[in-house]
Amino acid sequence: PELFAPDRVNSAGFDLTHAPTVRQIDEARTPWLTHNWSAAPLLAEDAASGATVDVINPADLSVIGQVSEASTDDIDLALAKASTWDAPANTRAEVLNRAADLYEENYGELFALLTREAGKTQLDCVSELREAVDFLRYYASRIPQAEAAGVFTCIAPWNFPLAIFSGQIAAALATGNAVLAKPAEQTPLIAYRAVSLLHEAGVPRTALQLLPGGGSVGAALTSDPRINGVAFTGSTATALKIRASMADNLRPGTPLIAETGGLNAMIVDSTALPEQAVQSIVESAFQSAGQRCSALRCLYLQEDVADGVLTMLTGAMEALQLGNPWQLSTDSGPVIDQTARDGIQAHIETARAEGRLLKQTLPPQEGTFVGSALIEIPGISTLKKEIFGPVLHVVRFKASDLDQVIDDINATGYGLTFGLHSRIDDRVQHITDRIEAGNIYVNRNQIGAVVGSQPFGGEGLSGTGPKAGGPNYLARFCAPDHQHSGA
Ligand code: NAD
Ligand code: ALA
Repeated sequence: PELFAPDRVNSAGFDLTHAPTVRQIDEARTPWLTHNWSAAPLLAEDAASGATVDVINPADLSVIGQVSEASTDDIDLALAKASTWDAPANTRAEVLNRAADLYEENYGELFALLTREAGKTQLDCVSELREAVDFLRYYASRIPQAEAAGVFTCIAPWNFPLAIFSGQIAAALATGNAVLAKPAEQTPLIAYRAVSLLHEAGVPRTALQLLPGGGSVGAALTSDPRINGVAFTGSTATALKIRASMADNLRPGTPLIAETGGLNAMIVDSTALPEQAVQSIVESAFQSAGQRCSALRCLYLQEDVADGVLTMLTGAMEALQLGNPWQLSTDSGPVIDQTARDGIQAHIETARAEGRLLKQTLPPQEGTFVGSALIEIPGISTLKKEIFGPVLHVVRFKASDLDQVIDDINATGYGLTFGLHSRIDDRVQHITDRIEAGNIYVNRNQIGAVVGSQPFGGEGLSGTGPKAGGPNYLARFCAPDHQHSGA
C-alpha cells in the first residue's frame, strides 16, 4: 500500500513554439553562456579529493569547467559516513517535491549546463528537465510502507545526465536509502548542480553524497561489502562487469537494477502512412544525435514501399539542421566526445568501404559532430553491437518473411524499444504479441517515454527491470523482505 495518493501531475515544461516563452528561456540561460563551473565530491564531511580535470563542451571543444574526481580516501569516507534517511516518508516526499520545484526554478542554469556539457538541443533540454522533475514528484507520490535497503550506489550515464541521474537518486532517497551517486565522467557539472539542489531542498548530506569520477570510482562503489544495492544505467557491457563484481564481493541477493543498451528495431509495412512513418523514423533515429537508449537502430521496410520511404527519408535527413545546440533552429547537436565520434564514424566508414552506405549528411567541422547516416544491411543479426549515435540501418523484407523478421529481432537478445507502422489491426496484434521488448510503440516515434504513463525499461540484455517511472520501481530499493510486495 502507498502512503500517498498519486495526485501528482507531470511537469508543464515549456512550449518552444511560443515566442515569449523562447525569449524567457533565452533571458534565463544567457547569463550562463560563458560561465565556468566547478565540481568536486559532495561528502557528508569535507575531504581532500583526487585529480582535477577539465570538462569540455562537445559542440566546440571549449573548456566549461573543472571537476575534482573522488579519490579512494573520498570513497572510503563516503562509505563510512553514509547513513539512511530516517525521516518519516511524508517528510522525504516533501523534500523531493521541493527539489523538483528548485529544478524548475533553476531552469536557466540547468538548460545552459545540459547544452554546454552534454550538447543538448533546446527541445532536449525541455524534455530532460521535465523528465527529471517528473521522476522526483512521481517517486515522492508512491513511497511504499517498507524499510530501506541501506546504502545504495547509483551510477548514471552521460546521455540523460539530469533525468536518469536524478531519477535513480530520487527512487533510492524516496525509500529512505543512503545514496552514493556516481555520475558519468563526461557530465559531472550538471550532477554537482543537481545534488546541490537536492541538498538545498533538505536531503541530509549523510543521505546523499556525490562521487564524481570514471569507471574506477564506479567499480569501487559496486564492490565494497558495505553496499546494499546498486542502480545502474549504462551499457550492457558495464552492467555485466558490475554483476560479476557484485557476485564476488557483495552479499548474495543484493539488488542490482540495471537499465542498459538496445538494438531497437522498427517495422514499416506497405499499409503505413509514409509521411507519418518518415517523421517517426527521423525523430527516433536522429533526435538527440541518436544518443538515446530508446533510439531506432534498425529499420525493416516492406520491399514494395522501401524505395519510396527511403527517398522521403534521405530528403528529411538533408533537411535536419546539425549544429550549435544553443540555437533554437538546431535539430541535432554533437555526439558526446571525440572517442564516441571516432567509433561511430569508423562504423560508417566500414559500411562505405563495403558499398552499403546509402547516405551521410555533412557535419559541422568544429566540435564532435557526426553526420546522420543511413546504412543498408541484410538483417539485424549482422549488427554485433549498439552504435550509439545518428546511424540508422535499414533492411528490406518481403511480406511472406514477416515472422522470420520478428524472430531475427528477438534473437538479438536485446529488448528495449520497438516501433511499428501499419494500418492493419490484425497485423499490429500479431507483431506486438510476439516482439520481446519493454516498450512498444505503434504508429508514432519510439522515444520519449513519459514518467507515470509509459514506465520505461527493457528485457534480456536491455535490463533487469522493474521499469523506471512505473509503479513497481520503488519496491526494488527496499529491504529484501519488501522487494516483492510491489509499490
Ligand atoms: P557506460 O556503461 O560506458 O557508463 C555508464 C556509467 O558506468 C558511467 O558512469 C561510467 O563511469 C560507469 N562505469 C564504467 N565502468 C564501470 C565499472 N567497471 N563499474 C562501475 N561503473 C562503471 O555507458 P555510457 O556510455 O555512459 O551510456 C550509454 C549507454 O547507456 C548506452 O548503451 C545506452 O543504451 C545506455 N542507456 C540505457 C538506458 C536505459 O534506460 N535502458 C538509458 C540511457 C542509457
Ligand atoms: N526515457 C528515454 C526515452 O524513452 C530513454 O527516450
